[in-house]
Amino acid sequence: MQQQGWTPSSWQDRQAHQQPDWPDTDQLNGALKTLAGYPPLVFAGEARSLENSLAQVAAGNAFLLQAGDCAESFETFSADNIREKLRVILQMAVVMTYSMGVPVVKVGRIAGQFAKPRSHPTEMVGDVELPSFRGHIVNDAGPFAESRVPDPARLVQAYHQSSSTLNLLRAFTKGGFADLNRVHAWNQEFVASSPQGQRYERLAAEIDRAMRFMRASGIATETDPNLRQVDVYTSHEALILGYEEALTRQDSLTNTWYDCSAHMLWIGERTHQLDGAHIEFLRGVSNPIGCKVGPTTDAAEVLRLCEVLNPSRIPGRLTLISRMGADNVEARLRPILRAVADAGHPVVWTCDPMHGNTYTAPNGRKTRHFDEIVREIAGFVRAHRAEKTWPGGIHVELTGDNVTECLGGADALADTDLDNRYETICDPRLNGRQSLDLAFRLAELITGAA
Ligand code: PEP
Ligand code: CO
Repeated sequence: MQQQGWTPSSWQDRQAHQQPDWPDTDQLNGALKTLAGYPPLVFAGEARSLENSLAQVAAGNAFLLQAGDCAESFETFSADNIREKLRVILQMAVVMTYSMGVPVVKVGRIAGQFAKPRSHPTEMVGDVELPSFRGHIVNDAGPFAESRVPDPARLVQAYHQSSSTLNLLRAFTKGGFADLNRVHAWNQEFVASSPQGQRYERLAAEIDRAMRFMRASGIATETDPNLRQVDVYTSHEALILGYEEALTRQDSLTNTWYDCSAHMLWIGERTHQLDGAHIEFLRGVSNPIGCKVGPTTDAAEVLRLCEVLNPSRIPGRLTLISRMGADNVEARLRPILRAVADAGHPVVWTCDPMHGNTYTAPNGRKTRHFDEIVREIAGFVRAHRAEKTWPGGIHVELTGDNVTECLGGADALADTDLDNRYETICDPRLNGRQSLDLAFRLAELITGAA
């Protein structure tokens, strides 16, 4: 539905937080013009399919798994990297589907998740104060003042990287890699050797048995598209509004506007001011959208956000991403859940257990503890149980690789292990084992087995 007074550029009349100080306006305008002429990355019909699936989540009939990098990198861009991330997402989804008995809607923080909001405009790198790194779509993380200068050519590079990432994702998800007949093959070696990897093998063996039973009963499991293909949607934080505007197109079927840079876009914790540019931009696009809800947001503000972002109360249109911190979540969330339910807003409620639990380890590395991540999800689920609402999903930062960025988990990673493989360019991510472990723990929490 067309929102009153909205155009793809109406955000420009509002205050836009977290925008880079592009040094050269002509270069910026050139890059935006190039992007505006490029093909859309996603098709409006796909965004509508995702919205329909999310409507099922809002109704309590499905679960949302939104996962991927904190920030995608221009440097670690490779087929292996994309495949391993997809592999762990598929593994988690199969664990959740099998254990919870509901469809799992899969949305990657992928193919466009480049821009990072920062708490401070500058940061210390060693003894030097530099402009903050804002993600590869803006500047480079290098330790020099020159590296940190925003470069509009990066907007175009981000588009191309998103385009090839999406191309490979489509190939993997439709071309056989995601075939449920290959469920064992998603277990990477370093994961398979762990207790949760073995637990996964047992679950995969049960799925195999079920598939053999279906084949024996005359169901063609090798050719059934429900088993051979999956839908993995893309999402990112809609932060750099010039980029998002340049990829916003009018859908010829419905005449409404879609931000065709991804299927789903979300508004971060630092940019959801009701009168701000980010809310203005996203209220007018028809994609399913998300909004972070942090510990300083109260019920009244959340209701106003729901009114602005989803005035027609379309189920699946709005996902609220709670990121309260493990200590706060139960008490803070309950009155908000109640208010949103009482007002009749059909939202998807999902839990980001990462961003409220970040701290700096003694060696200076930003990290998160696996136990705190699980504790936040447990508090989120308890809050929903108490309010009789559906804990509809999780939103996590992960990689398929064997990195050492988050503490704890089955390997009991300690502070002293962080330096071994600390590869993220922004926040610490769960590694493949921790991610699979989390899927099992989550399924237990949702089914009441924990
Ligand atoms: C993020 O999701 O990477 C992020 C920056 O989160 P938040 O806006 O909740 O701090
Ligand atoms: Co992050």
